[in-house]
Amino acid sequence: MTKHKTRLFSGIQPSGKLNIGHYIGAIQHWVALQNQHHCFFCIVNLHTITVAQDPNILQEHCYDLAALYLACGIDPKQSTIFIQSHVAAHSQLAWILTCLTHMGELSRMTQFKDKSQQHSQHINAGLFCYPVLMAADILLYQTNLIPVGEDQQQHLELARQLANRFNQHYDKAFTVPKAYIAKYGNRIMRLQDPTKKMSKSDTNSRNTIELLDSPDIILKKIKRAVTDSGSEIRYMPDKPGISNLLTIFAQVTQQPIEQLEKQYRDQKYSIFKQDLADSIIERLVPIQEAFHLIRSDTQQLDTLLQRGASEAELIANQTLSRVQLALGLLTRHA
Ligand code: TYM
Repeated sequence: MTKHKTRLFSGIQPSGKLNIGHYIGAIQHWVALQNQHHCFFCIVNLHTITVAQDPNILQEHCYDLAALYLACGIDPKQSTIFIQSHVAAHSQLAWILTCLTHMGELSRMTQFKDKSQQHSQHINAGLFCYPVLMAADILLYQTNLIPVGEDQQQHLELARQLANRFNQHYDKAFTVPKAYIAKYGNRIMRLQDPTKKMSKSDTNSRNTIELLDSPDIILKKIKRAVTDSGSEIRYMPDKPGISNLLTIFAQVTQQPIEQLEKQYRDQKYSIFKQDLADSIIERLVPIQEAFHLIRSDTQQLDTLLQRGASEAELIANQTLSRVQLALGLLTRHA
């Protein structure tokens, strides 16, 4: 395990099929940053049960996600990969932080407002307290940096707020973390409706490029992606469709948008889309091949996840004890 001074934490819900938004907005940054920090990459299954899940499918999704982390290039020799529910301190700290959080702070969360509309038959208190559990995830590891997409920004502000509140009132138990949100690609939009974020829970599969989509499907989805009126290939506010496709193109090929604008200035949408699809396929096929290989050995994944949980637990429990002591929940000589 690496001995970096700074710590990084991030996580993804095992709630369905990952799409290119998760890759561009989060995972590719994790891979790039893993050499410079001690990283904790969590499979946040406790967040997933805020919506009812089939237990067997949830387990399978956890393995899928672990295999995808590895296939995308997370190195388990450098980084700690683990399942949230395997480290009890996440739930324990979440309760303590819940008691420090104001109702108003949680009711202002835009994701809560959106999700409670989507699941209006099933709004539980977990959905409401979801950002507090996120704060617990982050603060347990004395995290410095949290690489996420733009949709998590408001939640991370709460984590900072709670860290400061605890540090001021009790004991300086927490590092105050910072979000790492990349300038481009922090919000990949739907292919059929580029005014909305590409999302796992979308029921229209034509809106997303899933990480495990076959090359044929990727090409079909890109060809059908909505483009804007006019024929210019430019990144502009009144061209949300083309701007989104340019963003994806720039991210998967690691080149500036301006360069792509220049390259495709006099080209037709059809050529641009064919080249974009080819670039996505080139980027995803090696990940898919690695995924299938890794996923076929569940035992090895189990070993890795158990090791990850033990590494994580060691650090998480230190923070939890300090917090419990500060609150008078442990006796000093215990
Ligand atoms: P989740 O599972 O919804 O998404 C995982 C990560 O992917 C990013 N992301 C996107 N980025 C760009 N464009 C998109 N269309 C897109 N869709 C998703 C998300 O911003 C996120 O970084 N609550 C979190 C998981 C979590 C967490 C944490 C994250 C739990 N605890 C602690 C960081 C730190 C979530 O549901 O992410």
